[in-house]
Amino acid sequence: MENELRQLLAEAQAKLSAVDTMADLEVARIEILGRKGKLAELLKGLAALSIEEKKVIGAVANEVKTGIEKAFMEAESRLSVAAASAKNESEWLDVTLPGIAPEVGHAHLTTQAIEDITNIFAHLGFVRSRHPEVDWDYYAFEAMNMPSDHPARDDWETFFVRGENGEVKTGAKGKMLLTPHTSNGQVREMEKGVFPIRMISIGKCFRRQADVRHLPMFHQFEGLVIDKKASVTELKGVCDYFAKSYFGPDRVTRLRPYHFRFTEPSFELDISCSVCGGTGKVDEVKCKLCKEGWLELGGAGMVHPNVIKAGGLDPDEYSGFAFGWGVERTMMMRAGLNIDDIRILYKNDLRFIRQF
Ligand code: DAH
Repeated sequence: MENELRQLLAEAQAKLSAVDTMADLEVARIEILGRKGKLAELLKGLAALSIEEKKVIGAVANEVKTGIEKAFMEAESRLSVAAASAKNESEWLDVTLPGIAPEVGHAHLTTQAIEDITNIFAHLGFVRSRHPEVDWDYYAFEAMNMPSDHPARDDWETFFVRGENGEVKTGAKGKMLLTPHTSNGQVREMEKGVFPIRMISIGKCFRRQADVRHLPMFHQFEGLVIDKKASVTELKGVCDYFAKSYFGPDRVTRLRPYHFRFTEPSFELDISCSVCGGTGKVDEVKCKLCKEGWLELGGAGMVHPNVIKAGGLDPDEYSGFAFGWGVERTMMMRAGLNIDDIRILYKNDLRFIRQF
């Protein structure tokens, strides 16, 4: 019996060192150590032995059982290490690899410019306001000192709104149109009846135009100050502050006489060119960007008495100044932004938009 026991141990050790799955190990456990397994079968023979023999064989049986259990433990740990490393192999993950960045959007170039412009004027006490982008011709023209049929209206290449019957829609304040400039906000702001006014109105404008320098839809920012003693000096100061804040402290401005129906006197505001620094020359050669030292920003002037009257005020008591500049044009004049076709701004081409 002793031999049989030792043989079982040897057999178990050989088997267990060769087993290569946990499932096979379990089968072997039942076969060897189970209630009806080989060891239990052998030990049944103990009953027939004498007490002396039982002592000897019993000790051998214990030794064999411990040996078999040890062989099981070793096999088990060998298999679980193998299983873990197989798992590591199949589920291997390099946590140092760069991740996949989620797409994050950002404000459009024009929206950024509108925010910058709003903030600069806020420093001077100008309050942002909005006025209708679909309005009556009274506010866009009539109240702006351009009576109907006045030829100056032609400059604004206006879209009129037609109703279902094909006729231009008309109301008590004239024809319905898409605002061709933000100046429609001037009289609308005065009609609110709160004075003095320091308004910066930024909105969409529409004109019948589309080429590399013009869009049928664009934005303007309209400044309006209405107070008891507004002056050209103050207008110049505001222009200068804006130019230095937006374009850089080295830029200077000039007011050049011009003509608008809604201002008197009227000006075009120019800012010194970033390339030649206002001299018009680079290395003795004419500056390629401006040709004469100055770049045109847009219109400005002292609010015409007729506009002040249209706003319900007495021009002998109140005066004001105003200016209206294109957002796209202004932002494209910022150094470093070389866009040769303005229409790219609104083509929704992400390759362009993501650059800003
Ligand atoms: N509304 C004018 C335009 O669209 C620009 C303008 C000029 C606005 C002079 C003003 C101003 O407020 O005073 O061309």
